[in-house]
Amino acid sequence: MKYVIGVDLGTSAVKVLLVNQSGHVVQEVSKSYPLIQEKSGYSEQDPNEWFEKTTEALAELVAQFNGHPSDIEGISFSGQMHGLVILDQNNELLRNAILWNDTRTTEQCQQIYDIVAKDKLLSITKNVALEGFTLPKILWVKQYEPDIFQQIHTFMLPKDYLRFRMTGEIHMDYSDAAGTLLLDIAKKEWSKEICEKLDIHPSICPPLVESSDLVGTITREFAEKTGLSEKTKVFAGGADNACGAIGAGILSNGKTLCSIGTSGVVLSYEETNDRDFKGKVHYFNHGKESAYYTMGVTLAAGYSLSWFKDVFASYESFNDFLAGIENVPAGSNGLLFTPYIVGERTPHPDSNIRGSFIGMDAKHTKAHFVRAVIEGITFSLNESIEIFRASGKTIDTIVSIGGGAKNETWLQIQADIFHAKIIKLASEQGPGMGAAMLAAYGCGWFDSLDECAETFLDQVRVYEPISENVTKYKELFKIYQEIYVNTKNMNEQLKGFRA
Ligand code: XUL
Repeated sequence: MKYVIGVDLGTSAVKVLLVNQSGHVVQEVSKSYPLIQEKSGYSEQDPNEWFEKTTEALAELVAQFNGHPSDIEGISFSGQMHGLVILDQNNELLRNAILWNDTRTTEQCQQIYDIVAKDKLLSITKNVALEGFTLPKILWVKQYEPDIFQQIHTFMLPKDYLRFRMTGEIHMDYSDAAGTLLLDIAKKEWSKEICEKLDIHPSICPPLVESSDLVGTITREFAEKTGLSEKTKVFAGGADNACGAIGAGILSNGKTLCSIGTSGVVLSYEETNDRDFKGKVHYFNHGKESAYYTMGVTLAAGYSLSWFKDVFASYESFNDFLAGIENVPAGSNGLLFTPYIVGERTPHPDSNIRGSFIGMDAKHTKAHFVRAVIEGITFSLNESIEIFRASGKTIDTIVSIGGGAKNETWLQIQADIFHAKIIKLASEQGPGMGAAMLAAYGCGWFDSLDECAETFLDQVRVYEPISENVTKYKELFKIYQEIYVNTKNMNEQLKGFRA
């Protein structure tokens, strides 16, 4: 039997999956690492830590493996998007990575509009300037850390740094490059025009490749550290959302994904790059060649739930924490939550907004609060579904992956709030599975990713919307939508009080 490894470099942890030729996950190791949050709105990580934890995870996986290391033919990656990693001319790190959920760059987004102009930016990159994207982070370093900026020889994204440490080779794939705001997504080349206008030397942009391209083999040193064979083929990999889409079989028109990890996304396959959403949703290159996807993002999806647990129930296991939510009626007896604890992206690109609980009642118990948090996250994702429906897309079936697909009650809540059938797959490991599929396809096991999906992906259950709950949630969604409008101004005033 032959195997591939999918590495999912997430925001809270790295997960490595060993997958066989039938698509079964035969081993899985995960190692977590912290966020560095010096100030409200700041979010960083030390790239060395990604490398160390991935090395440990792979070494553990190989040590437990029954076969011979040379049976593991290939490895590929899924990575948290947008995070800025900068290296000097000796390929040494210049600072911590500034992550996708860091919102310090509102000023730099405005600079991009002032200098490049919003229409121009949209026509080249298909996206608007959002704090989370990479370009505003580069401009922030230029403005506030000019000595460091001067020394930048190459910038890259999180999983590209990891791959560089494993192979010694520097590349970036189109699906991740699309999230930098420096890629001409139709021409699939770096935009010299944007670089020139913002006085960024184009040489700092790494060579571009397809997600399934072979970009090298692992170094002798890395093979010795992990027990992997030096012949293990390394494939570029993709953005976590592109890989999530691959790992959920979102590979043709009409397919929709809901992925709930630290962030949450609703993602829709696009055949072409010429649809006009006016920047309301992100528009990126897929990990499948010549394809695209659009998506809306809830910044703190799983993060809202883990935040709530850490603050109010840190002593409990996750299962105990969620116990009883199935007995709380849809709508949590009038308790609403907005998951804006680190600001929001879709449909409100607003780094100042913060979360609320509305309607707290003396009869509410902890289970009501937990369910309200889950419902609030799902309402936020429903805002993206509404944008897609308003654009003329039919969304009646959605594949759900990530942490949100692990809990039966949450899957039913998704069916009821989204008013769509929810499909649960045998493995909810979308991004890691997508990375493994890129390696399997890259190794030549299949002629296409679609063919790989037919063998690798299995549906295990469908959740049908319950009409009584659909009606109730439709009414509550309208009230939920009013919370943003009514709390925007208050949160702007509160900004000065946040440390
Ligand atoms: C997408 C985004 C997040 C990260 C999470 O634009 O910022 O979904 O990719 O890792």
